[in-house]
Amino acid sequence: MSERKTPDQLKTPDQLRSARWFAPDDLRSFGHRSRVMQMGYAQEEWKGRPVIAIVNTWSDAQPCHMHFKQRVDDVKRGVLMAGGFPIELPALSLSESLLKPTTMLYRNMLAMDVEELLRSHPVDGVVLMGGCDKTTPALLLGATSMNLPAIYLPAGPMLRGNWKGKTLGSGSDAWKYWDERRAGKLSDADWSAMEAGIARSHGTCMTMGTASTMTAIAEAIGMTLPGASSIPAADAEHIRMSSECGRRIVEMVWEDLTPAKIQTKAAFENAIAVAMAMGCSTNAIIHVIAQARRAGADIGLDDFEAASRKVPVLANVRPSGDTYLMEDFYYAGGLPGLMSRMAEHLHLDCVTVNGRTLGDNIKGAGVYNDDVIRPQSNPIYREGALAVLKGNLAPDGCVIKPSACEPRFLKHTGPALVFDDYPSMKKAIDDPDLDVSADHVLILRNAGPQGGPGMPEWGMLPIPTKLVKQGVRDMVRLSDARMSGTSYGACILHVSPESYIGGPLALVKNGDLITLDVAARTINLDVSEEELARRRAEWTPPAPRFERGYGWMFARHIKQANDGCDFDFLETGFGAPVGEPVI
Ligand code: FES
Ligand code: MG
Repeated sequence: MSERKTPDQLKTPDQLRSARWFAPDDLRSFGHRSRVMQMGYAQEEWKGRPVIAIVNTWSDAQPCHMHFKQRVDDVKRGVLMAGGFPIELPALSLSESLLKPTTMLYRNMLAMDVEELLRSHPVDGVVLMGGCDKTTPALLLGATSMNLPAIYLPAGPMLRGNWKGKTLGSGSDAWKYWDERRAGKLSDADWSAMEAGIARSHGTCMTMGTASTMTAIAEAIGMTLPGASSIPAADAEHIRMSSECGRRIVEMVWEDLTPAKIQTKAAFENAIAVAMAMGCSTNAIIHVIAQARRAGADIGLDDFEAASRKVPVLANVRPSGDTYLMEDFYYAGGLPGLMSRMAEHLHLDCVTVNGRTLGDNIKGAGVYNDDVIRPQSNPIYREGALAVLKGNLAPDGCVIKPSACEPRFLKHTGPALVFDDYPSMKKAIDDPDLDVSADHVLILRNAGPQGGPGMPEWGMLPIPTKLVKQGVRDMVRLSDARMSGTSYGACILHVSPESYIGGPLALVKNGDLITLDVAARTINLDVSEEELARRRAEWTPPAPRFERGYGWMFARHIKQANDGCDFDFLETGFGAPVGEPVI
């Protein structure tokens, strides 16, 4: 199936949404037209042309999107070439590395920002510029709800890190070498040389973190042009891709190719299969569930679990892989190459933003390095990247990334060591007298969507310093938090319902035995029902996190991790649909 249309099927200029602002012979439209002319645009530059919003998440506090200040001009060049009229609309920038307590607190705020920017302005189509972790799902959530023709332009990964000739990967190597430093094996000079070498160019984290995972997912859903998600930010191809997005979005407006025609349930199943083959970040689960449900597709934890049983990890990119980074992945053939290696797991008839099917787009895609993009006969990990566990500790599920943890922990029983909040955990972890062994299960609670608040990436709890010095580098860790996609280890995350609202995690006591069995997909607390009921009766909810402002609204409307952490009132089907603005 192709959405490409014949000339007589295309929209006419008077059918453009923006024509409601600009075309009528009335006083309001006089005002709109004269104000566009105030900006110096002659009538022939915009009259009857599709108005293309370029939603830009550039800011001075967003290192991953530094180049968007220039790239926006490349998108504009493409829009102009194709006969459109580009307008740049800045949106909330959400820098993963600088925002506290966590960007996740603001993902839905950016999604609302995008939806309302598009609704209130005279625009016909949109190029969405993002890439740093939450910006991808946020921009796509907003565009999905608004449903104007949209293309996603990923920022692209940064270049490989380098330190004394060693390759450094974002996040992953920071965690790894921090343990070496805590073990007393790295000097101050080495540590600051690493600081200077780990992020060498603009662009997003170049490991398989949340950024690379979510941009690949955007491409697999069909919301980017083919190959867009793998191009390094600093490569000239990224500039050419930017102008191509500008050219193509103008055609999409005439064709009326909207997200609703692209984002079908099958498209989300493709995204989940690709996420597995990429060795994806655990964060993908939350974002894909939210986005699919906005698009009206019923996707849940079970879809991830089913895909994880079938699709092997093929991308040898850290942290699931041991050597390579996104730059290598791009040279090896990028996402089209990877998808060509797993085509039997994909619905090839799904339409994408270029108007062609996924099958057409990956036809002839090559793989140029079999060690970076593995054949299915030689995967990095035979089953998928993620496993969903359930049991009396997590009735609504929790998540582990088996491909990134020591195999001996895939079946494990150990005593709990519980921390009620992040500061007390941080303080205790360096205590040389902490009563802990490598068999303990470290627990952090009150770190979920409401408790964190915003579900911070605290889930890779540090190994106690006392054990690091003994050479311990992995332990079972359990929380209702998320973890960075660049993190690794036997970390069980997203425990739902969260402890802050009284989920079973709230009832665990030090020394309780916890049993984890990844093959059986179970996680259980070996404490009797009667004892748990007794503890529940004694439990009191923690203090509210916010008593005013955005946080107050967040706390009232945020859904749990297994439901994608969307606001209830933004979900498709909540209340009556919002119509077009009165002009
Ligand atoms: Fe922006 Fe990792 S900090 S992608
Ligand atoms: Mg991240």
